[in-house]
Amino acid sequence: SGRNYRNFWPLDYDVMSDYAKSVVDSVSPTTEEIAMKDDMLRRISEICDKLVPGSRIIPFGSLVSGFATKGADMDVIFAHDAIDPQPFSLESNIPVRLASEFLKRGFEVDLLIKTRVPILKLKTPSKESLSRPGSPLTENGLGEAANQEEPWPENVSCDIGFKAHLGITNSHFFRTYSHCDPRFREMVLFIKQWSKNRDLNSPYFGTLSSYGYVLMVAHFLINIVQPPVLPNLQLIPPPADTPASELSQEGYNIWYFKDLSKIASGELLPQGKNEMSLGQLIHEFFQYYTTNFNFVSECVTIRTPGGVMYKQQKGWTSARERVGEMNNTYQDRYLLALEDPFEISHNVGRTCGGGGVRRIRGEMQRAAAIIRKISTPLTNDGAPHGG
Ligand code: GTP
Ligand code: MG
Repeated sequence: SGRNYRNFWPLDYDVMSDYAKSVVDSVSPTTEEIAMKDDMLRRISEICDKLVPGSRIIPFGSLVSGFATKGADMDVIFAHDAIDPQPFSLESNIPVRLASEFLKRGFEVDLLIKTRVPILKLKTPSKESLSRPGSPLTENGLGEAANQEEPWPENVSCDIGFKAHLGITNSHFFRTYSHCDPRFREMVLFIKQWSKNRDLNSPYFGTLSSYGYVLMVAHFLINIVQPPVLPNLQLIPPPADTPASELSQEGYNIWYFKDLSKIASGELLPQGKNEMSLGQLIHEFFQYYTTNFNFVSECVTIRTPGGVMYKQQKGWTSARERVGEMNNTYQDRYLLALEDPFEISHNVGRTCGGGGVRRIRGEMQRAAAIIRKISTPLTNDGAPHGG
């Protein structure tokens, strides 16, 4: 690659790699937590099925991709086949009826309607909210359901969406990518934790979502580092007998290579295996985005050979207003351009404002400098090698 962000002298990344691995271990959910969330999914699904027979709950996000950190919230979609032309109309307002089911059980409930599609935000009750004297749950009988059921694990959040979307597909897509090389998940968890520590993971307040950081890491590992750590699964042509459902959805090309046996054999990476340590990959990730990637003119596009397009080519130049499902309006911005791998008209970086982008870049510079400092081997006279 002509994108030369590399160091002038070799660094010793042992300390950084050990540190990164300890961070990854400490943020990874335990097997108990994973089992507890599976059980919650089952119980939430039962409640939905009781309310709307035949409906079901489809998980997506970090629950599916495997990029969840400890205490991560659960992203799910409520899906049903019932022929209901207006599931959000007053008569059949499913989100509202579902909200009241969870209120009865003592959940904290918040129904967002200013988003692209309605989102029901749930949080399981804490013990203290259920037993608080004078709580509506104990006063007027609303707590009945809560008392009859097995208690829920405390303080678990779950977002329920009401429209099947490409998020389900892209979560499975990244799950497949994470099977290609364990360093992908490790880097994602490290970068996610770094972004939270440095307050750079608040899409509602002008910075980037976790999903945006996943795209930035994927771009680096597929298109930038040499030899690549990950193949480009979207560029491998589909076999002739591929069912149409694997080729397109909502008018978008959703094909990607899914044959895990070929992925494991390494034959998709003809340039040989990348042997870099986790510490080195993280350092080069920060260096690439601070010295090479042009935030002003370039757009990350992991489906494309090379992985970069100009914002100009995509027509992603000035902010515009869009109209959502509920006739609300929201802003599309292009200060940080990260093209969704399937929904290619969608900028995952749209939540970033000017200040957010500046802070992300500044923090990346700071991180790269710290890693350089702790990775520079000392020469015999105690001076850093390379002067
Ligand atoms: P954590 O919740 O931090 O554990 O990470 P996550 O991987 O679940 O990501 P996040 O909650 O940010 O997003 C949930 C899912 O929504 C993603 O995995 C995508 O599948 C999907 N998604 C699609 N487009 C967007 C987008 O523009 N922003 C976000 N945040 N998510 C998107
Ligand atoms: Mg999530």
